[in-house]
Amino acid sequence: MTTLPHPQGAGRETRKVTVPAILARKPRGEKITCLTAYDYPTARLVDAAGVDIILVGDSLAMVVLGHENTLPVTMEEMLHHTRAVHRGTQRALLIADMPFGSYQLDPNQALVNAIRFVKEAGAEAVKIEGGEKRLDLILKLVENDIPVMAHIGLTPQSIHALGGFKLQGKTLAAAEQLLRDARAVEAAGAFSLVLESIPAEVAEQITRELKIPTIGIGAGPACDGQVLVWHDLVGLSFGVQPKFARRYADLRAELGQAVRRFVADVTTGSFPAEAETNRLSPEVRERWLARSSR
Ligand code: KIV
Repeated sequence: MTTLPHPQGAGRETRKVTVPAILARKPRGEKITCLTAYDYPTARLVDAAGVDIILVGDSLAMVVLGHENTLPVTMEEMLHHTRAVHRGTQRALLIADMPFGSYQLDPNQALVNAIRFVKEAGAEAVKIEGGEKRLDLILKLVENDIPVMAHIGLTPQSIHALGGFKLQGKTLAAAEQLLRDARAVEAAGAFSLVLESIPAEVAEQITRELKIPTIGIGAGPACDGQVLVWHDLVGLSFGVQPKFARRYADLRAELGQAVRRFVADVTTGSFPAEAETNRLSPEVRERWLARSSR
């Protein structure tokens, strides 16, 4: 493991988070933290605050690009944002979400796309949605040394098939399918598993059975770690706040207030003030005034 100077300085040191380090957390019962980020300044903030995993989620499509769901985001857009996050990340493990259409067609094309995330954008792992049906794909990526985070439950790329952003695994049959999906992705070699919007009891059972860590979002407290979307965490989302998302700041209100103050200051002439203004030196100023009054 590489030891890095802690980005917050002051002599603090911390270790680069790697895939084996994430796996080692589970037997020690140490919780794992994961947040999404889509740009350089957010990555700097999240990384310096000590989050273990930064996920460049395809939620980018909704919270940054303004789409209705995650389906339209492209490989090029995901690569662009992953590069920016990579430049702002020192300590956290960086995972890129493979967008809809980039891994469903055939495993070779999926491998090419996964390699692009690692080679061109600095990702250290990729995330794909789906359980049993992704078995061959996960095997292929893992045998080519690309660590895979799997994602089951509410998988937003299946929004049309699922009929909306709804809690999954509510019936006995659906809960048992989730368990089979979880076992399958672990057997295929995934190093972690996102459980999204499923009942806490089902997540607890999956977490107990698997050796790989589960990272929950709307899956209750028993998961080995928790993930939230950055915009939900800081109150920057414009859609409906999901029941499971805890808001730790209200940046929309705060930023709106800042913009209103700027508008008022410019309108009234109080910005820029003298302290925010550059002036000529007295000698040049004198010559300048004499010249322009000629
Ligand atoms: O795209 C995303 O942000 C995600 C997380 C919510 C897990 O998949």
